Order: sequence, then structure tokens, then C-alpha cells
Amino acid sequence: MEQTLLEVSHLNKIYKRKGGPDFSAVKDVSFTLAQGETLGIVGESGSGKTTVAKMVAGMLPATSGSLVLNGQAMESRRSKDMKRNIQYIFQDPVSSLNPRLKIKDILAEPLKLYFNLRGEALNSRINELLDDVGIPQSYRDRYPKELSGGQCQRIGIARALAAEPSIMVCDEPTSALDMTIQSQILELLQELQRSRGFSYIFIAHGLEVIYTISNRVLVMKQGEVVETGATAQVFHSPEHPYTQTLIQSIPKIELPYFEY
Ligand SMILES: Nc1ncnc2c1ncn2[C@@H]1O[C@H](COP(=O)(O)OP(=O)(O)OP(=O)(O)O)[C@@H](O)[C@H]1O
Ligand SMILES: [Mg+2]
Repeated sequence: MEQTLLEVSHLNKIYKRKGGPDFSAVKDVSFTLAQGETLGIVGESGSGKTTVAKMVAGMLPATSGSLVLNGQAMESRRSKDMKRNIQYIFQDPVSSLNPRLKIKDILAEPLKLYFNLRGEALNSRINELLDDVGIPQSYRDRYPKELSGGQCQRIGIARALAAEPSIMVCDEPTSALDMTIQSQILELLQELQRSRGFSYIFIAHGLEVIYTISNRVLVMKQGEVVETGATAQVFHSPEHPYTQTLIQSIPKIELPYFEY
């Protein structure tokens, strides 16, 4: 794998609860992400996956720990360029799009904000992005509610692409979609990675998905990383009892031959 892009060290998140005890959702989580790599995060519901993902993307402040992107520390108030560089793809594609904006205006937002595009340059870039994600240009004037869930997720991906990030954080990007649409979206994400060299942090409940697309895996339990390693290694010879239980719970599938 190539050079380290992101270095996450000793990340912690304590949620303050009004009238109740504080809750430690993420405990001392460290990992790295290389250029062009996909890091899968797995773990039971409530194990802290989304909390980690949102801290990485700058959507949630960390309680402590450090995040270093391209050798530069990311402070809690990120520069515009650091925000641009890490984009988030949401679990629920429909609600992640502003219902009052047309598709073209949803895509125009990051293009104006990060690249100051206007007029014809803006227009043609929007068309390019629609092409990139396989949505007809004629959908420009539609509202999100006039698209299917899978189409909305394509727009969510186009909006992330618009920022020209180096890292995409995908938080269960296909779990709200039915099976055939899921695999189309996964193929699109993989194709984009091949052509643009993105790094992905990819959260999914389906271990088959993680197995197929990840180079390395991080296994989380109750806010902690219990195991990490190359995907084939973790899946075929899990060390931690929790990982063993997770793998055994996969409904009998044949793990496909994995090529490195
Ligand atoms: N804003 C919040 N305030 C208080 N507690 C929270 C908040 N957000 C999440 N939590 C708690 O932190 C823990 C981790 O939540 P998180 O959403 O990161 O889990 P997850 O691994 O993404 O789960 P899932 O697989 O269900 O999406 C959970 O116990 C959750 O209840
Ligand atoms: Mg989650």
C-alpha cells in the first residue's frame, strides 16, 4: 500500500448526557489509512462506528485524540481545504439531500463553495458529475423526492465527488437499499476508487460487503478496537473471540477466493 494519508491516534468520545451519566462511546481508537486503501469498520450496533466516522469527517468534535491528514494536524475548527478533503456518504440517501433543492442546486453547493464555479463552468461540471454517477443529465431539475433511493444515493456520491476529496467516509451507504441496488452502488464506489484513487473508510453491517471491498478491517466492540488486520487474515483466522463470533454469525456463505 502507498503512503499514509490519515493517521488517527488515541481518539476518544464521551457523550455528555443531561441528567444522566456521561457515556464513553469511543475509547482510545487508533488507525491509519493509506492512499487508495479501503478500511472496513465492523462491529455490533452501538459499538461506536458512526461516532468514529463522524469525528474523522469533522462532523463531531473528538473529546481527545489526534487526527493528522497528509502530515497536518486537523484542529477542531478545520480549514476549508481539510473539510473538502474528507467527504461523508450517508446511510439514508433520501434524508441526506435537502428536499427543497433541485438536484443541480444540491451539486452546485460544493462546487461554488470549494471551487467558486459559476455560470457555464458550473453547469457543465454538474453534468459531468451526473455522468460520473450514471444519472441522466435531464434529472438536473428534479427534486430528491422525484428520485428512487438508489438514485438519491448516486446524487449523494456525486455531491461528495464534487468536493474532489481524497477520503470518502461511507457509513452504511447501501443498507437502506435493496440487494440489486446495493451491488450497483458498491460497484460504482469501487469503480470510482479505481479511477480516482480515493481512500475509503467503509462501515457496513453486512460482513460479505466488508470482505469484498476492504483491504484492511477494524473490529470494534463497545467503543474499542478489538482486532485489526488485513481483511483475509481477520476473516480467515480471527484472533479475538468477539471477531470469531462475528465471523461465525455470517449465514453460511462461501468466502470467495481473495486475491492480493
Ligand atoms: N448524540 C449522542 N448522545 C449520547 N449518546 C450517543 C449519541 N450518539 C450516539 N450515542 C451512543 O454512543 C454509542 C455508539 O453509537 P454509534 O452511533 O457510534 O454506534 P454504531 O456502531 O454506529 O451503531 P449502528 O451500527 O447501530 O449504527 C451508542 O451506545 C449510542 O447510543
Ligand atoms: Mg452507525
